[in-house]
Amino acid sequence: MTDDEASVLEGQILYYRARANEYDDWFLRLGRYDRGEDATQRWFAQIEEVRDVLSSLPLDDKNVLELAPGTGIWTEALCDRVAHLTAVDASSEMIALNRERLGARAGKVTFVEADLFEWLPTEEFDAVVFCFWLSHIPTRRIDEFLSRVATMLTLGGAVFFLDARREPTSTASDHVLPFDDQEIMTRRLDDGREFSIYKNFWDGPVLEEKCRHAGLEVSVHETKDYFQFGVGTRV
Ligand SMILES: C[S@@+](CC[C@H](N)C(=O)[O-])C[C@H]1O[C@@H](n2cnc3c(N)ncnc32)[C@H](O)[C@@H]1O
Repeated sequence: MTDDEASVLEGQILYYRARANEYDDWFLRLGRYDRGEDATQRWFAQIEEVRDVLSSLPLDDKNVLELAPGTGIWTEALCDRVAHLTAVDASSEMIALNRERLGARAGKVTFVEADLFEWLPTEEFDAVVFCFWLSHIPTRRIDEFLSRVATMLTLGGAVFFLDARREPTSTASDHVLPFDDQEIMTRRLDDGREFSIYKNFWDGPVLEEKCRHAGLEVSVHETKDYFQFGVGTRV
C-alpha cells in the first residue's frame, strides 16, 4: 500500500466515524441530500426495486456476512430472515447506531469492529452482502477484495452488492463526484469539515468480468437513475 492510499483509507474511516450521526440524512434525502420532490420519489421507488431483489435471494435461515453495514439500513432488512448475521464495520459509532436500530433483533447479529482491508473470517458463509462499500475500494485493490469475498463464501453461496450509479443528485448538493479518470472525492460534513475518500463507479460488464476472475458468477444490473447492484454465487 502506498502512503497516499493508506492515508486516504485511514481518512475514509475517520470520515464515516464522524458522519455516523448524520449518515441517514443521505438515505432519507434530507438536508443537503434533498434534491427535490421528483428526485426523492425516484430514489425511493428505485430503493424498493432493490429491496425486492434482495428479498428474492435465498437468505432465509442462512449464515450471512454483511460487510460495512453502517447504521443498519440493510442489516435491518437482513436480520429478520437469516439464522445468523455477522456484520463487520470499522466504525464503533456506526455499530452503535446499527445496534440501536435493531433493538432486540441485534441478538442475532455478531458485530465486529475491524478494518476490511485486513479482516479475515474464521468461517465460510452462505452469503455475503455489501451495500455502498464497493465504490470506496481503491481501483488497485478491487481484484484482491473480490477474491477475498469468494474465499468467505461456501461453494454455491450467494453474493449481493449494491452501490451508487454516477448520478450527481445521489450525493449532497455541495459534493462534486470525481471525474472518470479520478477516484478520490471530497466529502463535507454538516459542520463543514472536509475529508478525502475513494469513490469509484464501475461499468457493469467490467465488474462482471472482475467477479468471474475472482470465482464469483455475478450479473450486474442498474435501476433507472441511482443504483447499481450485483447478484450472484461463488462458483
Ligand atoms: C457508505 S457507508 C455504507 C453503510 C451501509 N452499508 C449502507 O448501505 O448504508 C460505508 C461504511 O463503510 C465503513 N468503512 C469505511 N472504511 C472501512 C474499512 N476500512 N473497514 C471497514 N469498514 C469501513 C464505514 O464505517 C461505513 O459504515
